[in-house]
Amino acid sequence: MKPVCVLGNGQLGRMLRQAGEPLGIAVYPVGLDADPATLPIADSVITAEIERWPETALTHELASHPAFVNREIFPRLADRLSQKQLLDQLHLATAPWQLLADKSEWPSVFASLGELAIVKRRTGGYDGRGQWRLRAGETDALPEECYGECIVEQGINFSGEVSLVGARGHDGGTVFYPLTHNLHQDGILRTSVAWPVADQAQQQQAEAMLSAIMQELNYVA
Ligand SMILES: Nc1ncnc2c1ncn2[C@@H]1O[C@H](COP(=O)(O)OP(=O)(O)OP(=O)(O)O)[C@@H](O)[C@H]1O
Ligand SMILES: [Mg+2]
Repeated sequence: MKPVCVLGNGQLGRMLRQAGEPLGIAVYPVGLDADPATLPIADSVITAEIERWPETALTHELASHPAFVNREIFPRLADRLSQKQLLDQLHLATAPWQLLADKSEWPSVFASLGELAIVKRRTGGYDGRGQWRLRAGETDALPEECYGECIVEQGINFSGEVSLVGARGHDGGTVFYPLTHNLHQDGILRTSVAWPVADQAQQQQAEAMLSAIMQELNYVA
């Protein structure tokens, strides 16, 4: 079994290492400042636990490696513009949205999306950061540099958020975990729990959506 080098050594990389152990797969979470000479890079499969990374000698070596799986997918999913375009292209339900390119667009944004606008930075936002909830009259609160760098979504009055984790093999076969229900506090995910009895219809709907995404991206992992 080939070793796996993971670009990034945060908690996801460490969890991958743990998961690899009982399977006999050696996983090396790699900090951006690591010394390439200490790693079995040439013989490894490469992946990343972060969506974007600075250009260093190490990240260049890993990212240009022929065995880097899903390499083209990272930037496509890391930018909310191309991420939302992908969902629209696949006809998957997503909050109505548009690119927010200029201040002059606000009247038409509220006219087409409704009274509550959720502005999100295209890249780099997480834990609710890089996000603004704005109504007409509040748009001056948005920093100038956001225009062109953000999308804006319709504010959805939703009853809950669920997550699905799945995997897809080289043969196109897919497997999924049960859906988990997410509880956030101040934009930060605090708990994620699977219900003892799954909602089969919801599970199947989510699996069909994630399958469509993984297949379109030819995602393997
Ligand atoms: N269109 C929306 N309408 C209402 N609430 C929203 C909308 N989009 C996001 N939210 C709320 O804001 C939270 C954070 O948004 P979102 O999940 O898009 O960003 P994130 O968690 O920072 O990044 P990631 O893309 O990694 O999930 C959501 O969990 C949800 O509670
Ligand atoms: Mg989120």
